[in-house]
Amino acid sequence: MSAYQQEYLKAQTEPESFWREQSEALAWFEKPKTILANDENGIERWFPDGVMNTAYLALDYHCEQGRGEKTALIYDSPVTGKKQAYTYNELRDKVAKIAGMLAGMGVEKGDRVVIYMPMVPEAAMAMLACARLGAIHSVVFGGFASNELAVRIEDAEPKVLMTASCGIEVSKVIPYKPLVDQAIMDSRWKPEKVVVLQRPECEAPLDNARDVDWQTAADAAEPHDCVPVLATDPLYILYTSGTTGKPKGVVRDNGGHAVAMKYSMKAVYDMPQDGVFWAASDVGWVVGHSYIVYAPLIHGCTTILYEGKPVRTPDPGAFWRVCEEYGVNILFSAPTAFRAIKKEDPDGKFVGEYDLSKLTAIFMAGERLDPPTLEWVVEKTAKPVIDHWWQTETGWAISCNPTGIEVMPVKAGSSTKPTPGYQVEILNEIGEKVGANQQGYVALKRPLPPSCLPTVWRNHDRFETGYLSQIPGYYVSGDGGYMDEDGYLFIMGRIDDVINVAGHRLSTGEMEEIVGAHPAVAECAVIGIHDELKGQLPVGFVVLKDGVNVDELQLAAELVGKVRNEIGAVACFKQALIVDRLPKTRSGKILRRTIRQIADGEEYAVPSTIDDPSSLNEIERVLHR
Ligand code: COA
Ligand code: AMP
Repeated sequence: MSAYQQEYLKAQTEPESFWREQSEALAWFEKPKTILANDENGIERWFPDGVMNTAYLALDYHCEQGRGEKTALIYDSPVTGKKQAYTYNELRDKVAKIAGMLAGMGVEKGDRVVIYMPMVPEAAMAMLACARLGAIHSVVFGGFASNELAVRIEDAEPKVLMTASCGIEVSKVIPYKPLVDQAIMDSRWKPEKVVVLQRPECEAPLDNARDVDWQTAADAAEPHDCVPVLATDPLYILYTSGTTGKPKGVVRDNGGHAVAMKYSMKAVYDMPQDGVFWAASDVGWVVGHSYIVYAPLIHGCTTILYEGKPVRTPDPGAFWRVCEEYGVNILFSAPTAFRAIKKEDPDGKFVGEYDLSKLTAIFMAGERLDPPTLEWVVEKTAKPVIDHWWQTETGWAISCNPTGIEVMPVKAGSSTKPTPGYQVEILNEIGEKVGANQQGYVALKRPLPPSCLPTVWRNHDRFETGYLSQIPGYYVSGDGGYMDEDGYLFIMGRIDDVINVAGHRLSTGEMEEIVGAHPAVAECAVIGIHDELKGQLPVGFVVLKDGVNVDELQLAAELVGKVRNEIGAVACFKQALIVDRLPKTRSGKILRRTIRQIADGEEYAVPSTIDDPSSLNEIERVLHR
């Protein structure tokens, strides 16, 4: 039996002893006696009586072990020209002061804090400061508009909101404070304090009684110690797109998460403790939570927080420059980032200019790694390139090439095999296993391993109905795919209304709600269509109300502006096409899949349930206009 098979079987057949062993790698305040138990909702929970603190594991523990002078975090910001390194001691001290500042504002264990920040080191410090207090952070990606922030504030009900005066997108300065003020105005819940980190690129007026200057308040605060929490206490809420306009608050617990993070650093990434790990993502996404902040620090590595893009800051050599400069061992980003690099540097000239000798592998996730991108990166870097599949809901890879256990041959288009701890099965709609190479629902047999969500924030029903009740005994991932005869997993895409735009997860249902709310619009369908660079791009097909007489171009511009204002530029909704009617089934269901197939130029069969086949010509007509 191979090393992978042994590890996989152990996790499958003796999950409690397997995860007890993994938990022993952490410095608990009180080790868990119970490894797995059901909670009041009947959901399996890991280490329920273990007592710990995630910020302690990420910082203080290393300082106590004599690693305090090691570099914990490197901030590299080509958009401001700043670079700064923090040792474990320095980072712990900064975080302890910020925790003291929050405690002084009344933040206690279990309270929520919303963090709406650009990629500056204070964003990571704010997260760790919450963890230190046992407070629950909810980071909102800086590319989201004020409406998205308002929805999250209303759902999480934070005592404090932490922000910065601005973000910087290449050379564009984006003031955050007006967005924050607007979001608070639109939300029924009002945070007591708004802490603002002033950046020199654009200072924000602190003109409200609740506004606090970050630097002044943190300087004046007493450092705060780590507050012991139960492993099952939440560490954070991270909202992610579902099929409706209301995002889901994925809840992450402290203990299971820390154990999974630690385990993954070795098993998935084969990361040495003294190494440098770089997740080129954003702290607003799950990859940023897990692999910019928590996992590398819990493992005792150096992590890099990069405020820039793969291209244009200043050129397509940006990633390779960072890898050389800091001796990065593992680079992790989304395929779209490499497609952007490839587009601007097809011959890989920039790659050749940098010393990548420390780089051992490049990991990708967030969307399917398309074979041409895989081949290009392998050819130009001569490094192993590893696709791994995961979701906000799990916090770490569900399937991967587990380089720390056994390196398996790569198959293009596959994220290799289930990570030990996950039991991945391909099922049909009534929960029966399908055969090799047959597509179906990609489902995870319960219990899910540590770190996976135990609930949706204050909406347990949504967890049950959205993931668990469809096929009893399983978590249904929302992705479709198949396993080949060797057990390699191929994720083929979402089976719901979620799309992936430049590695960002977005809901077409939410866009439809926004477009459909326009007074001239009778109905609409937003479809994710293939895009060479970003993977998918949303396109709206819009039917006007009878008798409405509008300038089509102007309406399209208004709809584009509405989505940009309400979700954010990151939605990349740039096309709204007016059609006479939408293809539907006789029962009135819009045939979204068929519209997508037409738009992508794929072969398609006219569905037998279609009400009016000529409606398909209408889609062809507007697409080819
Ligand atoms: N704050 C404010 N605005 C933001 C933002 C942020 N944090 N992030 C993106 N935006 C804006 C961009 O400026 C752009 O605005 P524009 O329409 O005015 O030009 C818009 O949102 C779309 O952004 P994006 O889709 O990211 O396009 P881009 O052209 O700026 O960059 C890539 C394209 C591929 C380089 C970039 O998307 C990328 O690096 N992706 C990697 C994704 C990633 O890290 N995913 C996480 C999972 S690993
Ligand atoms: P997010 O929750 O933002 O991480 O997005 C999760 C979704 O992104 C998954 O459900 C998949 O649809 C997609 N995804 C992430 N990683 C991969 C991958 N390696 N291959 C294919 N799809 C992926």
